Amino acid sequence: MSRLLVRNLAQLATPAGTDAPLRGRALGEVEVVSDAYLLCEDGRVTAVGRMRDLEPPEGDVEEIDGRGRCAIPGLVDCHTHACFAGDRVEEFALRAAGASYEELHAAGGGILSTVRATRGATEGELVEVVRQHGGWMLEHGTTTFEAKSGYGLDRETELASLRAIRAAGGLPTWLGAHAVPPEFASADDYLDYALSEVLPDAARVADAADVFLEQGAFDVAQARRYLEACREAGLALRLHGDQFTEMGAITLALELGARSVDHLEATGPDGVRALATSAVAGVLLPASALFLGRPMPPARALIDAGAAVALATDFNPGSAFCESLPLVCSLACTQLRMSPAEALAACTVNAAHVLGLAGRKGRLAPGYDADFVLLDAPDWRYLAYHMAGTVVAETVLAGRTAR
Ligand code: NIG
Ligand code: FE
Repeated sequence: MSRLLVRNLAQLATPAGTDAPLRGRALGEVEVVSDAYLLCEDGRVTAVGRMRDLEPPEGDVEEIDGRGRCAIPGLVDCHTHACFAGDRVEEFALRAAGASYEELHAAGGGILSTVRATRGATEGELVEVVRQHGGWMLEHGTTTFEAKSGYGLDRETELASLRAIRAAGGLPTWLGAHAVPPEFASADDYLDYALSEVLPDAARVADAADVFLEQGAFDVAQARRYLEACREAGLALRLHGDQFTEMGAITLALELGARSVDHLEATGPDGVRALATSAVAGVLLPASALFLGRPMPPARALIDAGAAVALATDFNPGSAFCESLPLVCSLACTQLRMSPAEALAACTVNAAHVLGLAGRKGRLAPGYDADFVLLDAPDWRYLAYHMAGTVVAETVLAGRTAR
């Protein structure tokens, strides 16, 4: 048996209770144990409590001194596009000089320029790049990450992307409907190809499917057709919706029983109400809104109306070249009017729920996976408070120090 004991923690903080997803008031309830210990065995948490109640375990135990540090659950990034080759630094500079994201996309840049670069990479190179990006995430406390394909848009590159994500330790989502590649005359022609030639094999590797429902990408009828076929093939459903325009993504997500609608920067009061009274989670991506200089999603309205809300980075080369969930938590508290407790729950237990992992990940309690972060801080709220600081001292994955 392998055992790990963390002693003398200034604080141990974890979303309260056992429910998932957390909503409303419960989203803001964090259990904080001061002067705490954390005991793990064979990759699982077996006990947490106050130092004075610790019964020293017998036999071989690896120990970590937690003095001056706080433990929180390993962060879960439920929305990334971590599998891509090349970069978009040139486009970043053009945007800084005044060009808009949509203009660059319409001119064949944007997503399609990353598609060209990604098609030129071998599967081995894609594995390496996802490993590199996963390593960056780990530096910022992310112990579980989802990653989407969607920069291949042909059979070979989409399947290579999904396998590369899995091989590099990520949870693959098939974003087969991200953009219409240039060799197809229409979105419908491309979907004919993707659903007949790619879906059967993609469904064997991926956990979920995702679609970009937006002007210039896919409309509601096309998104419905894509998602229905994916559901039929056994995939969980996600949508990129209401990023620039409200086009019915929330209504469609409810109709199809999707896991989540992600972005929501353009969501109005009707969308807020519909989402809040449904089982569909809203995934908020404030780093992407910031990076593109767009309005922030209506987080406060969603939470107050009872929606299940998660936070993620949207890490990608175009709209959010940012792998830091602690920075996302800072944005949640400063831009989305979320409390530090709501931010923590949104990128742990609720993000785990979006990935179908809420029973195993997102809390520091007996039975959960021993994935946790030691913050270099006297109070766990430094997670959001120390903006872009080096707040992560150590990350532990399945009971072993990962960095
Ligand atoms: O979530 N909105 C569409 N897809 C990504 C951006 C992809 C890109 O710009 O490369 C997003 O923001
Ligand atoms: Fe995205």
